[in-house]
Amino acid sequence: MRLLYMVFALLFRCGLDAAFHARRESEVSPFDWYSIEPSENITWTSCFGDQQCARLELPLDHSRPAGPKTQIALQMIPATDKANYQGTILVNPGGPGIAGTLFISQYGPLFTQVIGPAFDILAFDPRGTGATTPLAQCFASPQESDAWALSEVAALRVGDDSIPLARARDQVVADLCAAKLGGNGQEDIGASAEEWGPGRFMDTASVATDMLKIVEKLGQEKLQYYGVSYGTLLGQYFAAKYPHKVGRMILDGVVDGVLWQRGEDFNPAEDADRVMDTFFANCVKAGPQKCGIWETTPPAVAKRVDRILAALRSEPIPLPNSRSGPDVFTEDKALSFVFQELFQPLDGFPLMARVFRAIEVRDADVLSQLPLFTSDAGVPPWLQRNVGLQAIACSDFPPLEDSLKDDVATVRNNTATSRWAGPVTFSRLRVSCGAWKIRAKARYTGPVAAKLDAPVLAISNRLDPVTPISFARTVVDRFQGMRLLIQDTVGHTASLSLSNCVALAIHMYMANGTLPAVDTVCPPDVIPLVDSGSTTVSR
Ligand SMILES: *[C@@H]1O[C@H](CO)[C@@H](O)[C@H](O)[C@H]1NC(C)=O
Ligand SMILES: *[C@@H]1O[C@H](CO)[C@@H](O)[C@H](O)[C@H]1NC(C)=O
Ligand SMILES: *[C@@H]1O[C@H](CO)[C@@H](O)[C@H](O)[C@H]1NC(C)=O
Repeated sequence: MRLLYMVFALLFRCGLDAAFHARRESEVSPFDWYSIEPSENITWTSCFGDQQCARLELPLDHSRPAGPKTQIALQMIPATDKANYQGTILVNPGGPGIAGTLFISQYGPLFTQVIGPAFDILAFDPRGTGATTPLAQCFASPQESDAWALSEVAALRVGDDSIPLARARDQVVADLCAAKLGGNGQEDIGASAEEWGPGRFMDTASVATDMLKIVEKLGQEKLQYYGVSYGTLLGQYFAAKYPHKVGRMILDGVVDGVLWQRGEDFNPAEDADRVMDTFFANCVKAGPQKCGIWETTPPAVAKRVDRILAALRSEPIPLPNSRSGPDVFTEDKALSFVFQELFQPLDGFPLMARVFRAIEVRDADVLSQLPLFTSDAGVPPWLQRNVGLQAIACSDFPPLEDSLKDDVATVRNNTATSRWAGPVTFSRLRVSCGAWKIRAKARYTGPVAAKLDAPVLAISNRLDPVTPISFARTVVDRFQGMRLLIQDTVGHTASLSLSNCVALAIHMYMANGTLPAVDTVCPPDVIPLVDSGSTTVSR
């Protein structure tokens, strides 16, 4: 079963890890989040069919509860099995910067199948994101934001102008955001959130405390939580700060919390190229019918892909009628596309095979169906792109060196680690955070470790492009009570390629806290590309 679906915004692909950035076009919802009156207790309003929505008002600064507030958007799928009711489970879909509400609108029902009908499933938009206010939005209008995003530097390379250009662009964003979200240095109790600077309170530790408050307002003793990718970092911060408040916790696609907190060398793509190697190998196994760039050996497929990209570099493909408007398909766009598809090989590998073939024969019709750009025009604020990623990640990191020399070294290092991931996400984030000017008022610098009262389930794929299994093993050693379940697959998070075996383990764990046996490895149900045919490009 395919549980979750995730796409990064293709152009500003700065999304850190698992971004469940659902496709906007399928989310044209008439529901007006801002029509809900925020309240200090959770007051549910019907929304999205039989779901419940609320805006919970919490202090911007938890250490000064009388000061200005943030309004946290909550969206819940109520339990249907009231007889066996087991409380509420909070979910975080990753990013950071991805709105939980958008995620649950699209994948909540599937999620319910795995978790079971005895739980309320509650997503929330972390500070700065989605329908939570203040929003991490620095542009004056959707048109301005679109124009900016259209010229985004998608891939960074040593030796061309991409790094200097990205640096200058990030200084622009950092300046705009400092003016909009950085506050004026005054913290009178009576002052507004804008005056305090909401961007100073978007760090992960503040969100962890929000989760505690949500749990308290629900009248629940402990947190039950399902976090994927960056959501595992949020879970670790919560567990480190409030170890006795952890009830059930599932961390899938584990981020190394200590490396994250350190910030400077955060380069989690050590296994990304091995995921790509799996694509080459599966292409050989799948045969020419399923893999349009088939060759007899994996290295031969890899060479063919090299030739395809080299040809694209010398001759980008004009797309006068792409579904998101006139465009040109470039090597950078191909790299962004590939990186994204490595997350979800069940659909991604067949799609990559089709797209590589389409590039090879310069089939503009196929490439025109890819969602290359999503416009903010006519979209409500909670569905527009925002700078939640930078506002959260750069707040968690310490101030980073921001010289050209450092950025070049980062790109060089990251590209040495991974040819396929190096030029994109993490390098881009590192440059953004070098320029970022807003500092969290109380960045969490304590241990990202704890002794837990409750058993906690960590899950990792064997090969994950952005949260390597080595991270999961390290984190499990830091939290007493945590156990690792391995899914013997490739891709980012088990949830995106969920096997029946892992689904069952999750179900059992949620039902009564039973962890799978030590060293359990779940086999996959489907081998990407080998067992699946060619998908449609547009999905
Ligand atoms: C919120 O709940 C608390 C505890 O039940 C109660 O004391 C308080 O009056 C409530 N606030 C509002 C605005 O209803
Ligand atoms: C690059 O890698 C080298 C060797 O691993 C390390 O010493 C250095 O700190 C790294 N530099 C950056 C900017 O990540
Ligand atoms: C937990 O649930 C599983 C599946 O229903 C069952 O096999 C197991 O015995 C239960 N364990 C406890 C401690 O209740």
